Amino acid sequence: MCGIIGYVGADQVVPVVLDGLRRLEYRGYDSAGMAVIGDDGIRILRAAGKLRNLEQRAYHEPLYGTTGVGHTRWATHGAPTEANAHPQVDGRGEIAVVHNGILENYAALRRELLDDGVELASDTDTELIAQLLGRETGCLAERVLRVLPRLQGQYAVVTVRSAEPDTVVAFRQGPPLVIGIGRGENLVASDVTAILHRTREVVYLDNGEVAVVRADRVELLDAAGGPVERPPETLDWDAGRVEKGGYRHFMLKEIFEQPDAIRNTVRAHLDAERSGVIVDGLGIPADRLDRLRRIHLVACGTSWHSCLVGKFILERLTGLPTEVDYASEYRYREPLLGDDLLVVGVTQSGETADTLSAMELAAAGGALLATVCNVRGSSSWRLATARMLTQAGPEIGVASTKAFTTQLVALTVLALALRRARGLADRLDEQLVRELQRLPLAVEEVLRTDRALYRRGTEILSEATDSLYLGRGILYPIALEGALKLKEISYLHAEGYPAGEMKHGPIALVTDGFPVVAVATATATRDKLLGNLMEVRARGATVLAVAEPEADDVAEIAELVLPVPTVHPLLQPVVAVVPLQLLAYNVAVELGHDVDQPRNLAKSVTVE
Ligand code: M6R
Repeated sequence: MCGIIGYVGADQVVPVVLDGLRRLEYRGYDSAGMAVIGDDGIRILRAAGKLRNLEQRAYHEPLYGTTGVGHTRWATHGAPTEANAHPQVDGRGEIAVVHNGILENYAALRRELLDDGVELASDTDTELIAQLLGRETGCLAERVLRVLPRLQGQYAVVTVRSAEPDTVVAFRQGPPLVIGIGRGENLVASDVTAILHRTREVVYLDNGEVAVVRADRVELLDAAGGPVERPPETLDWDAGRVEKGGYRHFMLKEIFEQPDAIRNTVRAHLDAERSGVIVDGLGIPADRLDRLRRIHLVACGTSWHSCLVGKFILERLTGLPTEVDYASEYRYREPLLGDDLLVVGVTQSGETADTLSAMELAAAGGALLATVCNVRGSSSWRLATARMLTQAGPEIGVASTKAFTTQLVALTVLALALRRARGLADRLDEQLVRELQRLPLAVEEVLRTDRALYRRGTEILSEATDSLYLGRGILYPIALEGALKLKEISYLHAEGYPAGEMKHGPIALVTDGFPVVAVATATATRDKLLGNLMEVRARGATVLAVAEPEADDVAEIAELVLPVPTVHPLLQPVVAVVPLQLLAYNVAVELGHDVDQPRNLAKSVTVE
């Protein structure tokens, strides 16, 4: 959702804030703004629309000061106008606030302030926080501690006050905040990508905590104002990984990073020497392993698709019944929990609000909590007992690619680890370990595919307004993922379906030239899928297929085959999704869309 940056140090703050916001713009891009404490108090600049509008304003209306905050917004309360952009200020313009999240008692607080005669300048919940802080007395930290109990909902807030020009105060409940410890300067940000180029020493703020950040020191307080001690951690990401590195878009760079991301994820969790899985690395306590009878996977969006694949892999390799839930449904459906249950929250960011709530619910119900996550130190990482880090590196493109394929790898490793722990390991395990090690080469092969094939596929899809993506078995989630990728960045309607279900409704959509994209690599159900493709072909559909180049039966039906190499059936989703990512990317570029920052979306969905 929204991106936040705060700075206090010796440098001019405007370039630091703009640079941080540029790195955070993938989180939200409806409007942007900043507050700078200068000699004459707080000065605010805000602009509706993309960050470049704010940059232009900053160029024409320069601000000077070495303490400030910036924000890039994904609108919740109020339209994405300049008036609703952050920072929001109190009535006297002495306190500026930037905020990510939603205040659930917005209506009550707003009514109270209006009844007290406060004039509100925006429709935002954020202004209410600024107004409440402005009505308190004392230093900013004292005001924050008094206002905190009045706020209900989720918030990550960073605030400055003109009377304290050397201090930034941050507090959170829900959405993340991280403090970057620099030399003679300190920073606060909604995620590490904004500050990595200045420091790799960070402290994560916990829920309910307040950070008082000055250039030479950072104090952490609990909600009662008591001191909190937490040493900094050193990040293992380097700043170069959040640059485009010569690619036109982050998404394309991230698609091409998949072989390395997969290689790193495999290496992190497999002991190549003993061709075995490093079970200890997962941190599942031995006594819990003995009791384990069931698995629930919870996630949102693309991560939910990786769970659908994970169900096939986990059930096949461990024999443990595995359920998959949308995290947003799980948290309200009263699932049957217990200490025989492993609940895995799968999340790239580790900050998705629904996934975190589902995990909290599961932990409260006695389940063993695990996470497959791409961000060490994130909220899901800290919540879980057992953790598997996907080694995708920072993913900036809103459309998830390398996080997805590394999640598939991580879930396979998790399944192998549980299988081994349950005494089920046999020659299949050795085969899968070898196949996992070979997987990056298979993905490289897909990435070398003749561009002309993609040009043809792009033409077919970009000229249509709707399309159907079909797959069966372990590949049906890949059809869902391919359709989601296309929808997200090309704004064309696409529906993913298990091919066998197609006759029960979606086939009504098929007319002459209607595009059907089939995930048709060699699984036990390929013949069934081919039967379904014949049915749509008979009704005029244009079939595009992902399949092995030697699959003549697919080539006979499809107008176009995007080739992928043969890999073990359990790993086919990893190679089969790559052509669909490239196809969606090419269609979006062809249609002239902003691939990395698609309409209405945000990278990290930190509100419900
Ligand atoms: O960070 P998470 O993996 O928890 O995010 C979940 C979804 O919001 C995310 O996968 C979303 O669907 C992506 N935009 C898909 O490309």
